[in-house]
Amino acid sequence: MCGIVGYVGEKEATPVLINSLKKLEYRGYDSAGIAVINSVADSDESIIVRKCKGAIKFLEEKIENELVRNAINGNVGIGHTRWATHGEPSDLNAHPHTNVSGTIAIVHNGIIENYAELKAWLQAKGVVFKSQTDTEVIAHLLNYFYTQEDSPSKGDIFKSVQCARQKLVGSYALGVICKDYPDRLICVRKESPLIVGLGQNENFIASDVPAVLEYTRDVLFLEQDEMAVLYCDHVDSYNGDGEKIIRKSFHVDWDLSSAEKGGYAHFMLKEIFEQPKALHDTLAAHIKDGGLTFSQEINPEEFNSMIHNAKRIVITACGTAYHAGMVGKYTFEKFARIPTVVDVASEFRYRDPILDKNDVFIVVSQSGETADTLAALRLAKSKGAKIIAITNCVGSTVSRESDYVIYTLAGPEIAVASTKAYTTQLMCLYMLAIQFGFIRGEIDKDEYRKVLDALQAVSKKAQTILDNQTEIQKFASMQFNKEKIFYIGRQFDSANSLESALKLKEVSYMHCEAFAAGELKHGPIALVDKNTLVIAIATEEALYEKLISNIIEVKSRGAATMVITNDDTGIFNESCDSVISIPKTDFYLESMLSVIPAQLFAYYCSVSRGNDPDKPRNLAKSVTVE
Ligand code: M6R
Repeated sequence: MCGIVGYVGEKEATPVLINSLKKLEYRGYDSAGIAVINSVADSDESIIVRKCKGAIKFLEEKIENELVRNAINGNVGIGHTRWATHGEPSDLNAHPHTNVSGTIAIVHNGIIENYAELKAWLQAKGVVFKSQTDTEVIAHLLNYFYTQEDSPSKGDIFKSVQCARQKLVGSYALGVICKDYPDRLICVRKESPLIVGLGQNENFIASDVPAVLEYTRDVLFLEQDEMAVLYCDHVDSYNGDGEKIIRKSFHVDWDLSSAEKGGYAHFMLKEIFEQPKALHDTLAAHIKDGGLTFSQEINPEEFNSMIHNAKRIVITACGTAYHAGMVGKYTFEKFARIPTVVDVASEFRYRDPILDKNDVFIVVSQSGETADTLAALRLAKSKGAKIIAITNCVGSTVSRESDYVIYTLAGPEIAVASTKAYTTQLMCLYMLAIQFGFIRGEIDKDEYRKVLDALQAVSKKAQTILDNQTEIQKFASMQFNKEKIFYIGRQFDSANSLESALKLKEVSYMHCEAFAAGELKHGPIALVDKNTLVIAIATEEALYEKLISNIIEVKSRGAATMVITNDDTGIFNESCDSVISIPKTDFYLESMLSVIPAQLFAYYCSVSRGNDPDKPRNLAKSVTVE
C-alpha cells in the first residue's frame, strides 16, 4: 500500500528517487510524485514538487524536459507511488503533500484514522486544503508546530515531527523535508514498514529493500515508533521518546538482478520460472548433517521442547499465504498428527480466539508486514502462544516479533501476484511438519529421510513442468475468454485450488472460484453451463475415480474441462479436454508442483486479455493497512 523513498547525498536526487520508486511500483501505481529541496538559492520554488496521476512512467514523461534542462536541482528529496485509500487517484491527491507555503513536503504510507478531526481543527485555524487525502493533514500539522509562536518546536523541524506524530492516530511511514534544513531528511514509522539504506556519502529511505539495492545492501530496519535523520555522511536514529539510539545494520544478500526482469516480459513470469531455484535454496538452507536445522539463532533444545509440548497448531495468514496455511494443515495433521486450525488473519484477530502457551502459532507472510497478520501475531503472543514465522523478508516486522523465524529463500518477489513465495512457503510448512512428526515420534528416521529425499527432488520436478509449459500456454490462448472458471480438487488439491483460483482472479480478472470437488453437487453445479471451464487438480491416486465422476458431471452440463494431474496412465483422457501432466512425487508433496501450471495459466490468460500481470488493478503487494 504505497511506496515511499527518500535520498540525501552527493547525486542529483530526482533520478535516484525515480529509479527507486520504480522498484516499489508493486506497492501501488495510482499516482506518483517527488519533492526535492531546490539547490538553486534564489529560486521561487524552495521545494520542487512534481506529481501526477498514474504510473511512474507518466511522472517521468512529465519531468523529462526539466531533467534534460537540469531544471530540477537538489540533493535531498522524497518520492511516493500511491495505492489510493482516501481520495481518488488524481494529480492533486498524489503525494508529496506540502504546507501552504510549500516549505515543508512529506510522503506517507499508511492511514491517518483521525484525519477528519485534525482537518476540521486545522481548517478552523484558516488552513486551506488542496486534496482529499488523509496525508495532507500531516503537512499542515507539521507547519503548525513549526511556525506557531508559542510552539515548543518552533523553527525546529525534528521536534515538529515529534509533536505532530503525538496527534496522529493510525499507521504511518513518513519522509519529511524542509527548506530550512537543506542537508537532511527526517523519517518516522508507526506500523507501516520503513528501511534506511546506508551508502557512501549518500543515504536512503524506502518502504522496502529492493528500492535501495542498486545503491547499497546495508540497511537499518526502523522499529515501531522510531525516527531517523539522514544526512549525506551519517544517519542518526531515535527511539519513540526522541532519545538517540544505536541501531544495528543488516547486510541484505539479495542482488540487484533479482529485483529486475532479466529478459522476461513480466516479473510474474520471471518469478514463476525462479521457483526451482527458490525451492532448492529454501530447502538447502535448512539441511545439515542429513537432517533439518532451522536457524543458527534457534536453540534446538528449546525448539524441540516446544514441538514436544505442542497441543495444537494454529496457522494464520492472508491471501496466498493463507492458502499455503491450508495446505499446511494437511501436512501437520498427516506427518505430525497434531490438530491444526487455519485462520484468515483479519478474522482471527476479531473473534477472541482461544489460545494458550501450548499452542504453536504459525504466521505465514511473504512481506512480513501485512497489517492483519501482524495484529494476529501480536494477539497470539499476548495469549502466551509460541510464534513461528515463515517469511521471505529478513528484518521484517513479523520476523522481529516472532519467537522463531523460518525464511523462504525466494529472493525479492516483485509481482503483486505471489508465486514463488507460495511454493517456498509450502516447502517451509512441509519441513516443519516432518520435523514435528519426527521429534514427536510420529514418523521414524527412515520415513523422515525418505520425505527429505522427496523434498530434495521437488525442485527438479518443478523445472520439468516449466520446460513443458507450451501446452498450458496453448490452453490459455483458447480459454482466456471463458465467462466462468472453476477449480476443483480434493484434500491437498482442494487447498491448492483456492490458490489457483486466486491467481487467475488477480491477474486475468476472470470470474473464478474454487470448490472442494465433493461440494459441487451441493450447490455450485447450478452455475455450470457451456460458458464454464472446470479445471480439476488431481494428484491423489486414491481419489482419481471420485474426481472423474465430478468432471463427468460438469462435462455433461456443457463445461469445458482440464485436469492438472500426476497420473501417467491416461485415466483422465476421456473426461478432460486437456490434460496437463506433472511429475509424480511421494508423500503428498505434489502441492508445490500442481500449482505451477495454474500460475502459468493465470499469467497467460492475463497477457492474452491485454492486462499487465505485474500490476493488477485495485491491488497492491503489501497490505500494510487494515
Ligand atoms: O506479504 P503477505 O504474504 O503477508 O501478503 C498476504 C497477501 O496480501 C498476499 O498473499 C496476496 O494475497 C497476494 N496478492 C496474492 O497473490
